Amino acid sequence: MSKYSQNVIHILYQHQLEYVSGQYIAEQLNISRTSVKKIIDQLKNEGCDIESINHRGHRLITLPDKWYEGIVGPLIQEQSLFNNIEVHESINSTQLQAKQQLVGNKESFLILSDEQTQGKGRFNRPWTSAKSKGLWMSIVLRPEVAFSMITKFNLFMALGIRDAIQQFSNDEVKVKWPNDIYIEGRKVCGFLTEMVANSDGIEAVICGIGINMNHHAEDFVDELKHKATSIALHSDDKINRYQFLKSLITNIEYRYAQFNTKPFEAIRDEYIEASNIWNKELRFTENNIQFNGKAVDIDNDGFLIVKDNTGETKKLMSADIEI
Ligand code: BTN
Repeated sequence: MSKYSQNVIHILYQHQLEYVSGQYIAEQLNISRTSVKKIIDQLKNEGCDIESINHRGHRLITLPDKWYEGIVGPLIQEQSLFNNIEVHESINSTQLQAKQQLVGNKESFLILSDEQTQGKGRFNRPWTSAKSKGLWMSIVLRPEVAFSMITKFNLFMALGIRDAIQQFSNDEVKVKWPNDIYIEGRKVCGFLTEMVANSDGIEAVICGIGINMNHHAEDFVDELKHKATSIALHSDDKINRYQFLKSLITNIEYRYAQFNTKPFEAIRDEYIEASNIWNKELRFTENNIQFNGKAVDIDNDGFLIVKDNTGETKKLMSADIEI
């Protein structure tokens, strides 16, 4: 791929649905019209639907199910949270990569990949990350807070992710405390928050987000068929991955600003309203111990208050819940 291909796709995307002449692109990038033509042919080869008409130019109609850095970069840099973004076609895990890259610098950054070959969920469970179907992303942020604030961070992120998915779903999107997002009883997203901390506080928070965006029902492996869903399965159309990413980042930025300035109490009512764990029998696993019970409240610090089947009240900071 030419080093200018990301610039070309960026220009075409900016002028989407209009014709852009080869001459204009060549002048913008200071390259020849022949080079522009070669790059456009390459983009077509990899699935970009570009209409080219003599004397009018090139018009981008649709993009393939792929992240282009030339589009993601400007889309996210318009917003301010990240110093850097990185896009991969395939990677072992964006979370692993993010953890390696945060050392020795103070950057906030984002890593996205079309596919992960060793995606990991909570408790080190494998996370299926099929090519081109989902949004597999890790963000590294540098909040100046004590490490005990990590649970609070997770609660704010949950609402940001939920709100973004809700904008694209016809059905109600719910938070399953502490780390999942559900639509109609099925998981559409899992996220996890890890951190690197020293005695002064948090050095970095690494939030890994996996969202099933454009899966069809048959795309899920047998084991997940009755447990998982995708946003597209609750929408009239295929999800435009770039519009969705933009909404996700906007919502994350909003919630991150709230996290930095407000106590959990400020979003407690909203969080309770967004949650799907009330009034039902649940199975909890906390530190390898299992018990049944009901979630009754979330306190002002974000702890889940649970009444187990013996009548005992427990306060949970994190747990695995089976609905
Ligand atoms: C869970 O539900 O257990 C959390 C799943 C988190 C998956 C995401 S996908 C992007 C990032 N990279 C990973 O390997 N995991 C997270």
